[in-house]
Amino acid sequence: MKTNSSHGLHGASLCTPYLLLVPLGLLAALLVLPSLGPSNARSDGLGVLCGGAGADGYSVSSGDDEEKAAGTAPPPGAGTEEFSLLVGVLTMPSRRERRDIVRMAYALQPPAGAARVDVRFVFCNVTDPVDAALVAVEARRHGDILVLNCTENMNDGKTHAYLSSVPRLFASRPYDYVMKTDDDTYLRVAALAEELRGKPRGDVYLGHGFAVGDDPMPFMHGMGYVVSWDVARWVSDNQEILRHNDTHGPEDLLVGKWLSIGGRGKNRYSLKPRMYDLNWFMDNFRPDTIAVHMLKDNRRWAAAFRYFNVTAGINPSDLYHQP
Ligand SMILES: *[C@@H]1O[C@H](CO)[C@@H](O)[C@H](O)[C@H]1NC(C)=O
Ligand SMILES: *[C@@H]1O[C@H](CO)[C@@H](O)[C@H](O)[C@H]1NC(C)=O
Ligand SMILES: *[C@@H]1O[C@H](CO)[C@@H](O)[C@H](O)[C@H]1NC(C)=O
Ligand SMILES: *[C@@H]1O[C@H](CO)[C@@H](O)[C@H](O)[C@H]1NC(C)=O
Repeated sequence: MKTNSSHGLHGASLCTPYLLLVPLGLLAALLVLPSLGPSNARSDGLGVLCGGAGADGYSVSSGDDEEKAAGTAPPPGAGTEEFSLLVGVLTMPSRRERRDIVRMAYALQPPAGAARVDVRFVFCNVTDPVDAALVAVEARRHGDILVLNCTENMNDGKTHAYLSSVPRLFASRPYDYVMKTDDDTYLRVAALAEELRGKPRGDVYLGHGFAVGDDPMPFMHGMGYVVSWDVARWVSDNQEILRHNDTHGPEDLLVGKWLSIGGRGKNRYSLKPRMYDLNWFMDNFRPDTIAVHMLKDNRRWAAAFRYFNVTAGINPSDLYHQP
């Protein structure tokens, strides 16, 4: 799709901050409480607020967890880190069961080589008091929650809030790439990292290209797409998008539109057919999957876990009585 809108998107000063910090009391508690549970589920989280700690979110990096916990992590590019990727899973506070499944799906994946990959669940303002309490506990336990200053929605600016907040939130330890995905997508992080490894680090827009007319990829399907840090920063710096009220509508199409107007994300890559929708019969899984989308109920997640041998990894034990 060619966008004919004439408004130019020029760099401008930073937008107002979009982050709504999880209550500060909670933060303070996080910083002083000893971690609970096993070391792979430490509560050193809300790293977003204290300089990029790994926490329980699926985080791949070679042995610098202690440094991160101590806030003395090296800057990006230093040491052995090959590149870094922030994965934002847009979801809603009430979808706790799904989030639990998705969290396990990330936690049980093989490492992504020397890439640093952090996964965060992204909400807008948590207004319901019950949700707020449960989200606070979840954030405390897992440290993988990101709450933005927006009203909960799917096609009314949440993606914009996410992409434009991230560059400020993580300014002290930027990522090379920022991904937006959903809670009905099973992302195979190592396969994605393998794709990113050889790609440019700048001006990148990668995902499942959605063809419109004779343009093979005017935008990337909302199941999951990656932009490089400079592109996220450009979105963040752009007052024009908000001024033109250009955040209402299908979020994936709009991201493509902004980038086309601004001439950004020119290094475009479509990972079709390795990113795809699971069909009705659940029989189109492929071994080289990067992302499979439309996992909208537990039955479909179960099929994915079986297909990708996540279930097969269970240790044999008399305790399970599995056939
Ligand atoms: C949050 O968003 C509201 C409405 O857009 C705005 O008035 C407020 O200043 C924002 N708060 C912060 C902390 O950015
Ligand atoms: C989010 O909640 C905060 C605190 O309740 C409020 O100041 C802000 O305006 C809200 N933002 C939006 C966009 O609703
Ligand atoms: C922005 O667009 C939305 C949806 O089209 C509309 O409801 C809203 O009133 C618009 N806001 C402004 C300030 O034009
Ligand atoms: C799952 O394991 C089976 C048996 O080892 C193997 O044949 C299959 O290729 C694996 N599937 C995937 C997606 O790796």
